[in-house]
Amino acid sequence: MAHLIIDTDPGVDDAFALALAALTPGVDLLAVTTVFGNVPLERTTLNARRVLALCGRGDVPVAAGAAQPLVFPHPHRARYAHGSDGLSGRSAALPEPTRDVEASGAVALMAAELGRATEPVTIAPIGPLTNIALLLAAHPEVKPKIDRIVIMGGAIDGGNVSASAEFNIWSDPEAARRVLVEEDVPCVLVPMDLTYRCAVDTAWLDKLAASGPIGSALHALTPDYLEHYTKALGWPGLVIHDAVAVAEAIAPGTLTTEDYPLDVECAMGPARGAVIADRRRPELIADTEDLAGRRVAVAVDTDLDALRAFLFDGLSR
Ligand code: BDR
Ligand code: CA
Repeated sequence: MAHLIIDTDPGVDDAFALALAALTPGVDLLAVTTVFGNVPLERTTLNARRVLALCGRGDVPVAAGAAQPLVFPHPHRARYAHGSDGLSGRSAALPEPTRDVEASGAVALMAAELGRATEPVTIAPIGPLTNIALLLAAHPEVKPKIDRIVIMGGAIDGGNVSASAEFNIWSDPEAARRVLVEEDVPCVLVPMDLTYRCAVDTAWLDKLAASGPIGSALHALTPDYLEHYTKALGWPGLVIHDAVAVAEAIAPGTLTTEDYPLDVECAMGPARGAVIADRRRPELIADTEDLAGRRVAVAVDTDLDALRAFLFDGLSR
């Protein structure tokens, strides 16, 4: 059984990812924590609680975390992709939350769950990495309890929010650098290069809508997101980035990874938030030359049909 904490900023693809974890049998969803990102914190928190209510998971504690990045202000949100309320303007169509937000806050909730865990825990951050950087900085004692941090983020060959950066990393590059480069907890980075290749088409979505009340409610959250990704892909489909990362978090080995030395650009220029993966062959790098950052597993491939079937099975309720 996968023991899992999700840190999220819903977001349409976050909603799919959350539902996947909440509904997949055998997943022990210990907590959901929220962060600013696609929309402001208050809204990401409400959206996460409503998605859990949709999935009948009032048993899962939810706590709110960072409302802004560690150091510099957040230049803009992602309403252009996720709609005014983060869920294509349809958040209020979801059931109201059945459980109060934990007063302790995201970092304390994660630390408490990790502290009492008797089995290794996977953390799946699918928004900016602010809460995770704070957790590792403030509670180093829980690090041995973390099996892996499976992160949706980064762009190896060109970004989405800028020419070089992907939204989650760009939203708080200093936090991302702390987690990916300065810490030693095992990480898997699931970049948008791969999540784009895992896009689902409208036939997949229509089948999901027809699968049951939860599939239908998830489909209802997609109009604005579908409009955005139809332009981004050049064909009518959805890139459900975060669900790809959560699939790997709950079913390790779903994605094929390669280890690369990574670094995160934190300078204030056109490359801010870029993830730099050193893909040179190690034997071609001079001994004296510093490798960028530390080696991190980067997801590079998957069985696309099997992944789409796994997502469909998990969400069709
Ligand atoms: C990431 O940014 C957000 O808009 C999505 O929810 C996803 O986590 C993709 O770049
Ligand atoms: Ca997200």
